[in-house]
Amino acid sequence: MGILLEGKVCLVTGANRGIGKSIVEQFAKEGAIVYANARSEGSIDVSAYSEYKDNIIPVYFDIRDNKLTGEVFAKIWKEHGKLDVLVNNAGIVQDAFVGMIKREMVIPVFETNVFSMIDLIQYAAKVMKRNKRGSIINISSVVGIYGNEGQMVYSASKGAVISSTRSAAKELAPYNIRVNAVAPGMIETDMLKAIDNEKKEKYLSRIATGRFGTPVDIANICVMLASNYTEYMTGQVLEVSGGLSL
Ligand SMILES: NC(=O)c1ccc[n+]([C@@H]2O[C@H](COP(=O)([O-])OP(=O)(O)OC[C@H]3O[C@@H](n4cnc5c(N)ncnc54)[C@H](OP(=O)(O)O)[C@@H]3O)[C@@H](O)[C@H]2O)c1
Repeated sequence: MGILLEGKVCLVTGANRGIGKSIVEQFAKEGAIVYANARSEGSIDVSAYSEYKDNIIPVYFDIRDNKLTGEVFAKIWKEHGKLDVLVNNAGIVQDAFVGMIKREMVIPVFETNVFSMIDLIQYAAKVMKRNKRGSIINISSVVGIYGNEGQMVYSASKGAVISSTRSAAKELAPYNIRVNAVAPGMIETDMLKAIDNEKKEKYLSRIATGRFGTPVDIANICVMLASNYTEYMTGQVLEVSGGLSL
């Protein structure tokens, strides 16, 4: 087991699969106590984490439910008297070309990717302020920086993640709370599986390193941002895309 996050109490949203699952595993491997969120009861199999399983505590709630979200922060406070790290990872995507976008598509994307993230940041800040330290990591996307055809809604939500990150970073820095964003490129998860092969080949040809990313590629950056090695870093957006934008 590593020691980069030894004794740190962390909360990771959307942790039953994809990038979130990998963040939980890498955090636990580095000695963190990880509250792993998922919305469907029983969808986190702690036994699959073998020797790190004792470090992982599943917490089932839909991040759009403000009341349940608040109860989980109260539980963490009661059990540990602190929260060191929050990773806002849970997210959804809805793709449609300009002219085909319906308000019914926009609302759930913003509710999940933006409104809930703002709620979680507020709850985390309240707890972290008491101990005058903390690291908040928001998962954005390269499309939140550069945009993408067919993704006006999703990219707008991920752009909002970046601007929220910068504003929260400015406001929370006096309390020694750091807020940074990670902007993944194309990562091999269920989200990528939804894209057809022809499009995938097109995207792959734009990636300088010639491969899609893995969830661990993103999780390792989150370990770094959660650790004390980045204590002087806040309000930043780290693109992790294998050189997609080069
Ligand atoms: N994969 C990529 O290429 C890529 C690129 C850039 C950015 N990202 C971002 O990275 C993050 C993780 O993506 P991923 O690829 O790992 O996605 P994924 O495989 O689709 O997983 C998304 C996770 O979010 C959870 N979630 C969604 N809505 C939720 C809610 N209301 N409450 C609690 N959990 C909820 C899902 O839970 P359920 O199982 O219940 O649905 C799932 O665990 C997202 O924010 C995504 O936008 C991904």
